[in-house]
Amino acid sequence: MALIALLPGDGIGPEVVAEARRVLDALGLDLTFEKAPVGGAGYEALGHPLPVSTLDLAQQADAVLFGAVGDPRFDTLERSLRPEQAILGLRKALGLFANLRPAKGFPGLEDASALKPEIVRTLDLVILRELTGDVYFGEKGQRRTAEGLRQGYDVMAYDEAEVRRIATVGFEMAKRRKGRLCSVDKANVLETSQLWRDVVNELAASYPEVALTHMYADNAAMQLVRAPGQFDVIVTGNMFGDILSDQASMCAGSIGMLASASLSEWSGACGLYEPIHGSAPDIAGQGKANPCAAILSAAMMLRHSLEQPEAADRVEAAVAAAIADGARTADLGGSLSTSAMGDAVLARL
Ligand code: NAD
Ligand code: IPM
Ligand code: MN
Repeated sequence: MALIALLPGDGIGPEVVAEARRVLDALGLDLTFEKAPVGGAGYEALGHPLPVSTLDLAQQADAVLFGAVGDPRFDTLERSLRPEQAILGLRKALGLFANLRPAKGFPGLEDASALKPEIVRTLDLVILRELTGDVYFGEKGQRRTAEGLRQGYDVMAYDEAEVRRIATVGFEMAKRRKGRLCSVDKANVLETSQLWRDVVNELAASYPEVALTHMYADNAAMQLVRAPGQFDVIVTGNMFGDILSDQASMCAGSIGMLASASLSEWSGACGLYEPIHGSAPDIAGQGKANPCAAILSAAMMLRHSLEQPEAADRVEAAVAAAIADGARTADLGGSLSTSAMGDAVLARL
């Protein structure tokens, strides 16, 4: 029996997690679910975006299925109490340094992509985003300059162990896929990136079977829409990975389609699974959200943390079949509600 911590969070988080839960229930596996409040919901219920009881549950569970956090009502709270601190805190506390964000074209969905159909069909990549370092977790604050001006600052830093750890995952993944690893940085400007590039190059000697390239982040953003088929595995830092993965989602068709896995070690162990999108306050509570990213995140959970690769295949095939048969929420140009999209997936399981 496996224990799943269900952390639905805010906005559309609960709406999409409910559909993922229905799909998991339909598989007939021996799973136990325990729900806990997180984000704005955690703050409202227990006075903190990541309540101790929620963190305890996440640490005890075999896997965490996460919705999204973020609520405009709480954007003016001091930073440590804002909803987003919940996901940042969970990543840090659970040591989830490796974030896998696969982006693939779905047959039949070409019309939803911002790219031409013949270009979408070449899309099959994974953005491997470092998740516990970079400018996200450096010293930050606001202060006064010598002239008395207000100044904000966020320190960007990576040490070599952090880079080696994520780059190793990148090489191992590329080895199991198409053998191509592209490391994305800004080594032309940033010392953090120069160290990153040096360490990745040192590791390359141990992976002669992987073709390693380097690319500046600005060029990578351009190449991702020009010719995404050139990429297999992209390994990059926390900030660049955040931005490039939202961009990659529109290459596939919608941010509502992209799942993610956040892992503390390359081969599974406790992981956190969440759509790459946020709480979408603009459509929350209206039954409009696309649940596919959450459902596909559940599939990644089955594969990476629960040793259920066949069940993961079934879920992914059911989503692909629903899409191929024309099931569409509004973000994909259709009119199905969140639960009707869930029904469409369930019907093909
Ligand atoms: P967002 O991803 O929530 O929304 C961006 C746009 O995409 C919106 O127009 C939204 O309606 C649409 N969208 C997102 N998911 C969708 C889905 N499943 N189906 C259909 N449409 C979808 O990003 P944002 O608007 O920049 O941020 C909103 C809040 O979410 C903020 O508080 C932000 O900090 C938070 N956020 C949280 C996470 C997370 O919990 N991991 C991730 C990103 C943003
Ligand atoms: C994501 C989100 C988060 C991030 C925010 C909500 C902290 O954008 O998961 O992609 O920047 O990592
Ligand atoms: Mn993001």
